[in-house]
Amino acid sequence: MKTLLSITLLLAALPALAQDVGALTSETKKAVLPVLPKVVKAMQESVASKGAAGAIPVCKGLAPALIKEKRQETGWDIRRVSLKARNAERGAPDDWEVRQLADFNIRAAQGETPETLEKGEIVSLEGKPVFRYIKALPVVEVCLKCHGPLATLDADLKAELTKNYPQDQATGYARGQIRGGLTVKRPL
Ligand code: HEC
Repeated sequence: MKTLLSITLLLAALPALAQDVGALTSETKKAVLPVLPKVVKAMQESVASKGAAGAIPVCKGLAPALIKEKRQETGWDIRRVSLKARNAERGAPDDWEVRQLADFNIRAAQGETPETLEKGEIVSLEGKPVFRYIKALPVVEVCLKCHGPLATLDADLKAELTKNYPQDQATGYARGQIRGGLTVKRPL
């Protein structure tokens, strides 16, 4: 009976929630996406001045720190994930994220611009409605320094990667491919 009641309540709430997806998506993007150009800019500057190995702290430290700041500011769960993670401890996707990232790969292969690939959806997690958002992180020029084909990477960078990420899967990318996603979970 209790289950029936909660299903009825959920169904009653659905049309309203569906209308909210658009608003939730734009609100979430507005709050979270400004992190991205900051990271790319810091990456470009750091690679240019310190070389790829010297710039590791940007992707390893600065990006997670800026994301953490946003997490504290908003109270939402915000992470970077990838189907081919370098640091699986932090970057392994859950089932929903795997589905969206796989879908992004298909859409990119069909000619959609990787920069525009995103998905917002209201899902039920442990019986509670949660807004989920994920945006594709496309490989731009600077990413290739550390995520490009192994044969093209600087020797000192390769040495650092072997030492710190023995399970690294995040090489072999080409420009325009999707490196991963920036993902947000927002309890409603
Ligand atoms: C200077 C080297 C370097 C550059 C340049 C770089 N990355 Fe990374 N990237 C790393 C390292 C190291 C990690 C692992 C970070 C950690 O330990 O959490 C990482 C992790 C990531 C992750 C988290 C998921 C995972 O695989 O662990 C994403 C997403 C990512 N990078 C995307 C990018 C994108 C997009 C670019 C280009 C805009 C880029 N990176 C440029 C070194 C780099």
